[in-house]
Amino acid sequence: MIAHSFGRELLERYGSPLYVYDLDKAERQAKALFELLPKSAQVLYSVKANPIPELCAALKTAGCRVEIAAPLELRVVLEAGFAPDQILCSGPGKTASIVREMLLAGVTHFSCDSWYDLERLSAVALEAKKPANALLRLQVSGAPSGSVGVGAMQSHFGADPAELLNGGVARVGALRGAELAGIHIYSGGQIQSADKLAGTFEHAIRVAEEIAEAGVALRLLDLGGGFPWPFGTSDTPVDISALGEKLKRVNAQRRLTADAELWFESGRYLVASCGTLLSTVLDVKVALGGKTHIILDTGMVHLGGMAGLGRIYRAVASIEPLAGPDGGTLQSADVVGPTDYALDYVARDTSVPSLKAGDAVAIPNVGAYGLTASLVAFAGLQPPAEVCCRGTSVVAAHRLRMGHERI
Ligand SMILES: Cc1ncc(COP(=O)(O)O)c(C=O)c1O
Repeated sequence: MIAHSFGRELLERYGSPLYVYDLDKAERQAKALFELLPKSAQVLYSVKANPIPELCAALKTAGCRVEIAAPLELRVVLEAGFAPDQILCSGPGKTASIVREMLLAGVTHFSCDSWYDLERLSAVALEAKKPANALLRLQVSGAPSGSVGVGAMQSHFGADPAELLNGGVARVGALRGAELAGIHIYSGGQIQSADKLAGTFEHAIRVAEEIAEAGVALRLLDLGGGFPWPFGTSDTPVDISALGEKLKRVNAQRRLTADAELWFESGRYLVASCGTLLSTVLDVKVALGGKTHIILDTGMVHLGGMAGLGRIYRAVASIEPLAGPDGGTLQSADVVGPTDYALDYVARDTSVPSLKAGDAVAIPNVGAYGLTASLVAFAGLQPPAEVCCRGTSVVAAHRLRMGHERI
């Protein structure tokens, strides 16, 4: 929790609402994740979780690589100091022009979402005379229960493993510009236990072994992630400390892929906890029927906009007075945002301390899928400043540029 006086100082300097990111915390999370994984494993930070350059740079310092999908993210990670060969370009949205831009910038690793995507990479790499290592992303059957996002629904991501299991050797051998380096399996996000996480990695390793048995050499296995962290609430994080031991057992099952490098990906586990959204109460009113409504200067335009995209945010944020609990009684209230849109809820029927207009509040665990995953262009509100700190020193401040530009 941000110290009251520091939060107040930041609000005065940058205005309300305001995202605050604690870079030290992100580095600590990275260290904790590395400690759970096999020694030589790489951790890729999924930049879509939060593309603030200083946050990316902090994770670079902590030893991470990055996973990106778009030219803007490429610019951010290069600015953050990542070498092009520390970047994985992934996602199903690649075009020949995006692939060319990545290759010309020196990016060497690509996750291909289909065989077509792989052949396109191969053709562009051949023409650009650039090396390209491809991971074929594979569909997984059966999502780990309790996951959200990709694995929570019948996923459209990735290719059928049969592409490699049946006649894969010939297909791979026929590639000209790109080389198949390995496979990529991402089973879903927010996997709610060390057991389930280990289970998804075990499944991925089994698939990799089968492919290797079919004669396709794999020197790189990107096993995805799904490492959980609360979103917008002060709930206790799921304890995944047992993952290290479980992974030792899973990792020992590798035979034909024993020498392949292991990669893991994470967005939320690395950066969710470092972010806090500070906001100011604009009004408190009691509606017909007696329900208390607390109106904040932040809402779905700055937080939780991914609800419709399977991020399954259901207006349950924890609203904590910046001044800390006052020991008074809690009241039940709906906490709503500043737009005149009926679904602009921050938390429904939540227990909050007594608040009045002008009070500052904090919403914790919003460093991942916060501002850039929200409806920032809706309702004409200026995006909040985003401030990166170490302790009580401000390292950098940003504001997303908004508004239409004539083209
Ligand atoms: C392929 C892939 N990797 C990594 C991530 C990051 O997930 P998380 O932030 O839950 O760690 C995602 C999120 O959707 C993803 O689709």
